[in-house]
Amino acid sequence: MRNRTNKRIFPDDFQWGVATSAFQLEGSPNADWSAWDPVLGDIPRITNHYALFREDLKLLKDLGVNSYRFSLEWSRIEPRPGVWDEEAIAHYQEIIDILHSYNIDPMVTLHHFTHPRWFLERTPWHRSASREKFLRYTEMMVSTLRNVRDWITFNEPYVILIGGYLDGCTPPGLRDVPRSLVALKNIFTCHGKAYDIIHHYVPDARVSIAHNMSVFAPWKKWNPLDRLLRNRANFFYNHSIINAFKTGVFVIKFPFMRPVEIEVPIKDKLDFFGVNYYTRIHLRFNPFKKMGVELRHLDIDGHGLTNLGWEIHPRGLAKVLRYASRLNMPLVITENGIATHDTEEKVKYMKRHVDVIERCLKDGLDVRGYYYWTLIDNYEWLQGLDARFGLYHVNFKTLKRTPTSAASYYSYLIQSRSSL
Ligand code: BGC
Repeated sequence: MRNRTNKRIFPDDFQWGVATSAFQLEGSPNADWSAWDPVLGDIPRITNHYALFREDLKLLKDLGVNSYRFSLEWSRIEPRPGVWDEEAIAHYQEIIDILHSYNIDPMVTLHHFTHPRWFLERTPWHRSASREKFLRYTEMMVSTLRNVRDWITFNEPYVILIGGYLDGCTPPGLRDVPRSLVALKNIFTCHGKAYDIIHHYVPDARVSIAHNMSVFAPWKKWNPLDRLLRNRANFFYNHSIINAFKTGVFVIKFPFMRPVEIEVPIKDKLDFFGVNYYTRIHLRFNPFKKMGVELRHLDIDGHGLTNLGWEIHPRGLAKVLRYASRLNMPLVITENGIATHDTEEKVKYMKRHVDVIERCLKDGLDVRGYYYWTLIDNYEWLQGLDARFGLYHVNFKTLKRTPTSAASYYSYLIQSRSSL
């Protein structure tokens, strides 16, 4: 799209993409999560993408994207410690090769929430041996897979820590603040070292994490405790990670606890910053909840709530991008999407968020890419199979994929706003 002065706003090399994660599409018998969620007992292969990947990649070609973010399922690649499954590695290489044949650049995520079962049982993130295991896997992948320039080491490290170590709703299911801090140190140390490993094998690589950023607001503006929670959440979730990439030190201030400082070797270990953005969260002080925090979603903008009850708040994307621009490096929206059965809502959600990016570009923010979450309906970690984030609808009984109007809208949007 051109603005009134007829100047192109989205650069020619803007990365228009779609993001997925392996486990959410294909499951894996050796993954920790398969044993964690009973829903997967009935549908272990989920969309059967592992077998149907060629057809699914064709959908990307039809969409007209020029980049595709997907993850490697570690538990397929290393089903037992130190035992590498050649077939699985060849499978992911084939995905990369097919993408190149379609002129689509791969962006590969090494870790998207799941682990091999043995990793969780023997060396979970709060054990120091976790580092060597993850880095061995990283080196194996980076030295073996060909023609990948864009790498994401970890998807949403804070979500791993909150779910697995504070809330206990995801593996390893702990509620243990001291261990969460050890796990934080181990995960980010791995990021820093993986950054160097990737650059060793791929000198022109572009490496980041995908960080889930949210906008926080007090439930009642007049309530100083709600405001305190907003400030603490913003500090922890949005600020501390950005600060740690600038300084090499995490400053963690949980509500009503003394601040903790943790050194990690990640200073400047980023080539761009990946932002996953979905929603705004209102916070209410409630002494009966963990750390006194209750999360709320309110429909303040009048755009409604998603299928998962999340507020639709497109303006928040500008806010988090402006915040992330403190890193002074390219920003990529590595995920943005909506869970809904209503495809018109999906179209509106996408348009509103891309409009916000357009305004950010006009304001001079260095945004390089947008990845819609997600290609086809998939398994959603805590909500099972009914979230429906896909551009393509999946019938989980027949596994048939059917385009929603959001798929054709995304193609149109890509064409109209770029020179592809
Ligand atoms: C995660 C995805 C997830 C999506 C929607 C992101 O935080 O990276 O795996 O499906 O949000 O919840």
